[in-house]
Amino acid sequence: MTLASGEVFGPDQPIALKLLGSERSFQALEGVAMELEDSLFPLLREVSISIDPYEVFQDVEWALLIGAKPRGPGMERAGLLDINGQIFAEQGKALNAVASRNVKVIVVGNPCNTNALICLKNAPNIPAKNFHALTRLDENRAKCQLALKAGVFYDKVSNMTIWGNHSTTQVPDFLNARINGFPVKEVIRDQKWLEEEFMEKVQKRGGVLIKKWGRSSAASTSVSIVDAIRSLITPTPEGDWFSSGVYTTGNPYGIAEDIVFSMPCRSKGDGDYELVKDVIFDDYLLERITRVSYLLIY
Ligand code: LMR
Repeated sequence: MTLASGEVFGPDQPIALKLLGSERSFQALEGVAMELEDSLFPLLREVSISIDPYEVFQDVEWALLIGAKPRGPGMERAGLLDINGQIFAEQGKALNAVASRNVKVIVVGNPCNTNALICLKNAPNIPAKNFHALTRLDENRAKCQLALKAGVFYDKVSNMTIWGNHSTTQVPDFLNARINGFPVKEVIRDQKWLEEEFMEKVQKRGGVLIKKWGRSSAASTSVSIVDAIRSLITPTPEGDWFSSGVYTTGNPYGIAEDIVFSMPCRSKGDGDYELVKDVIFDDYLLERITRVSYLLIY
């Protein structure tokens, strides 16, 4: 709905929404299409549905790959790889065949870093740089926890990097993050809380939420998808950055090559991004991010 309303791409950008479903979800998708049509969004020029990715991805400029089996209580996201990996291989092939050569792909289905890597490896004709694994939800969760602890509104938290995977091995970076422009460590003078409670809360937030209401996050995920798109189509405010899981070439920050790893990015607002250069490291942070980059896949 947010996409259809024009709140993401702006009031001058007409939208065609192409929804990809499965045989099982087709009827529900028809219902969603009806809702969209009946909302009379002035910018929504087309709503179509299909279960064929080659039809749906034809000429698309943005592909939001959300559909995948979600995890249930007690599962790790990596446990979904067998079943979901195939979906993203197929979708990568379809994107490669028919999508715009400039398509930007945001992979949300878990384990999203590995799925993004599978997808881009199956789409050799699309620049690997155009693929993202969604770690914006983790960034938002981290900002929320820091704001709550510091007693400020969350828009006062900036420069929040999530390093690594959208999994419990991720490294939320409290060394570079800022509150009201000041380093977090100068505002929250509780190193133990930062290293233990804060880290764990962000890393495990998705799992805790599933345990509480029996399903994975939906509202905060969709907000974070919108945030992720906006970050790529809006110039990043001076001095700030955002996190996204992107493809590594040439060992950025000493991180392993040829993986999808969340890192700090900036955009000129053209849909592209560059990695941030002026981040600082201490031994704790450097050791953690390089170790996870060489050890983990999921
Ligand atoms: C989340 O982080 O909430 C989602 O990735 C769903 C999940 O499995 O945790």
